[in-house]
Amino acid sequence: MPIDSEESSHDIQFAEDFILGVATAAYQIEGAVLEDGRGTCIWDTFSHTPGRTVNGDTGDVACDHYHRWQSDLELIKELGVDAYRFSIAWPRVFPHGSGQINQRGLAFYDRLIDGCLERDIKVFPTLYHWDLPQSLADKGGWTNRSTADAFAHYAATVMDHFGDRLDAMTTFNEPWCSSILSHLLGVHAPGEKNLDTALAVAHGQHRAHGLAIQAMRAARDSVPLGIVLNTQSIYAASDSERDNAAASRHENFHNGLFLDPLFNGQYPSEVVEKLGDRLPRGWREDLSTIAQPLDFWGLNYYTPMRVADAATAEYPATRIVDVVAEPRTDIGWEVDPQALYDMLVNLHTRYTLPPCYITENGAAYNHGVRDGVVDDQPRIDYMQQHLVAMQSAMNHGVDIRGYFAWSLMDNFEWAEGYSMRFGLIHVDYTTQKRTFKRSAHWYQSLMQQRRG
Ligand code: FCB
Repeated sequence: MPIDSEESSHDIQFAEDFILGVATAAYQIEGAVLEDGRGTCIWDTFSHTPGRTVNGDTGDVACDHYHRWQSDLELIKELGVDAYRFSIAWPRVFPHGSGQINQRGLAFYDRLIDGCLERDIKVFPTLYHWDLPQSLADKGGWTNRSTADAFAHYAATVMDHFGDRLDAMTTFNEPWCSSILSHLLGVHAPGEKNLDTALAVAHGQHRAHGLAIQAMRAARDSVPLGIVLNTQSIYAASDSERDNAAASRHENFHNGLFLDPLFNGQYPSEVVEKLGDRLPRGWREDLSTIAQPLDFWGLNYYTPMRVADAATAEYPATRIVDVVAEPRTDIGWEVDPQALYDMLVNLHTRYTLPPCYITENGAAYNHGVRDGVVDDQPRIDYMQQHLVAMQSAMNHGVDIRGYFAWSLMDNFEWAEGYSMRFGLIHVDYTTQKRTFKRSAHWYQSLMQQRRG
């Protein structure tokens, strides 16, 4: 069913308990990487390695949020949103990933969480938004089973300490990125290109997720628990039979590799057939640990994926095709809200999924400040269209409980450094001045209209 493009997001009737929020992640905004006992993480190492990020940018300072958290929370309050999704930096809490706990790290998130509660902002933290402590990486990272055990201990510690003040908790953000994009495609830290390692990392993260859910439930069973995925709407690059077959293989490799073990307790049969002997030894015994019942799942959606056949490559023997279709955002990603609708309906039909939150959605547009104004109409259009697509999926029966804009403010966009701006709020990285873009005012008006 095509989504109703005539409908505007201001016509959407958000249920009273539907959550509208903004999202960020620790390494992308905090800075202060050497402060208060924080340990080093793989993104410190990677971003300081020449050639890995655009302009050699690092998260050393980022948005200096570690020092500006109070005024940043004021901005969230001014936006009037219900909730803030941020991530906790594992290396602030356990500088070496396990062992000695760092009280000053916990104290920072105490301040932040209490600051949210004082301002009536709901708290949606994530445990892992890619900042693996370097000490654990040095011992094999996610390929070492002890990393999952350390993660479960970290999760239980966080839940024990903050659990009385949380509205939800997420284990991983986009494990596809921290396994395939990082260890097979070489784009994110640590920048490897090795399928066996990538599979071991994906499996290790699945197991860590399952163990963490068990450990958090044991610590406190009142906080809704979930995971955030970047499942994709995968389309064949052409009408050819070969590209169609490639799209279906890619569905198993990109989406099935994550959804099937998490929600069905098994890997897709095609993945087992082609790659079963390359998964880490004993993987079958971990499946029941991995498939924990969840209270929600999060979907991060930006753009669809188009794939072509790459017959000579190893499984899935596909090639992700750069899209030439317009419109595209400044990062080159195709704008396609229909793909969001299609994916939501498709996945909620094919899998038995818990309620969904759109945990990230937004667009890179690099408009600057002119006479105090950032005129980013394309971002408003983008978000409006995607909210309408989301609403259509809800009308079609998909249970969606909230939507988080990525991002509260411009920040360190991983390998793209500071060259790509996703914020509702503009950040001048020289002065750290924050300026509401027009999209921020628009988002604010959505909230006001709802309160009406
Ligand atoms: C997602 C990440 C997030 C941000 C957006 C643009 O993949 O979760 O940190 O970089 O993309």
